[in-house]
Amino acid sequence: MSQDKKIFVIEFLEVYLKVVAKTIKLDPIGTETAIQTNDNVLSGLLKNDLDVMQECGGRGMCSTCHVYIKEGMDSLSPLNRREKRTLEVITTCKTNSRLACQARVIGEGVVVELPSGMYLSQIDDVDALMADALRKISFTLFLAKSWWRRVS
Ligand code: FES
Repeated sequence: MSQDKKIFVIEFLEVYLKVVAKTIKLDPIGTETAIQTNDNVLSGLLKNDLDVMQECGGRGMCSTCHVYIKEGMDSLSPLNRREKRTLEVITTCKTNSRLACQARVIGEGVVVELPSGMYLSQIDDVDALMADALRKISFTLFLAKSWWRRVS
């Protein structure tokens, strides 16, 4: 293949990929995921083996796919009526809340923040959470023992 043809193919592929694929970043796990343009954010979560419950089967009714959008809200499809209604009833809703199953990615620059305590799928995440919990329990026991020694 000639050099000109190679350059043409590379440029074509770059344009093609920009049109058909978008990249979203997942915080705090810090991964970037390519998804097809107009696919929902949920597909990006599932590509990363995140354990999203999807109680309603992705119909925007259960909020088990709730995420926060740190950046790039304009690169998502607008909120639809069902999504608005579902978000209105959850207590953790903020101005940057979206339902991953309803938010379609139409542009670049989307950074998704996973609500803490949700989407645990990797044993490392569970281990980290358990270690943190054990540290807190140990510290509480230490304080309780110290207090008990002083008063007894
Ligand atoms: S999966 Fe139920 S609201 Fe998204």
